[in-house]
Amino acid sequence: MTTALAILLAGLACAGLIAVYTVLLDSPPLPSGGAARAGLVALIPSDLPDGPFYELGCGWGDLALDLAKAMPERRVLAVEASPLPWLVARLRALGRENLSVRFGRIEALNLSGASLVAVYLGPKPMARLSEKLRAELPPRSVLLSNGFALADLTPEKTVALPTPVTTTLYRYRMRETN
Ligand SMILES: C[S@@+](CC[C@H](N)C(=O)[O-])C[C@H]1O[C@@H](n2cnc3c(N)ncnc32)[C@H](O)[C@@H]1O
Repeated sequence: MTTALAILLAGLACAGLIAVYTVLLDSPPLPSGGAARAGLVALIPSDLPDGPFYELGCGWGDLALDLAKAMPERRVLAVEASPLPWLVARLRALGRENLSVRFGRIEALNLSGASLVAVYLGPKPMARLSEKLRAELPPRSVLLSNGFALADLTPEKTVALPTPVTTTLYRYRMRETN
């Protein structure tokens, strides 16, 4: 087998693996753009309770890295269930003390200690996770979402990004009952 053929087959295998997990998770590993990441970081309030940040479905690690850089005093736990993006995010996190990247499903996490959760997930995963987020996130903690609203909860703040396709960023403040 020639080197070129081996590279082609490896590329096809990687693309196939990404496609399979995109279907399984109803979500492609599409990174938040720079403006969205900066907008989400700017939405972090100063009056957060103690506890780690979570980046749920961290993809290739872009948003998780920005959160960890912006808030070096906070521990950032990122989770991703698609193997290739997870591996890349894990490698990118090497040397960043306050960021850890786990392989696995968001559904398996206990979020009851979170001070902030950031997501960019898509409509189906958001709908599936809505009940978990409402039930587990502690009072005064914050949920930041790029592009997708949480049903039946009024955001504390929204930002419309002036990108070619209008994107809305949402900030929710959790209460005793959500
Ligand atoms: C649109 S990408 C966002 C990537 C990153 N959060 C960002 O903003 O740059 C969504 C990611 O969430 C992951 N994902 C979706 N549902 C998941 C689940 N239930 N558990 C773990 N990861 C999930 C997908 O594999 C995908 O990589």
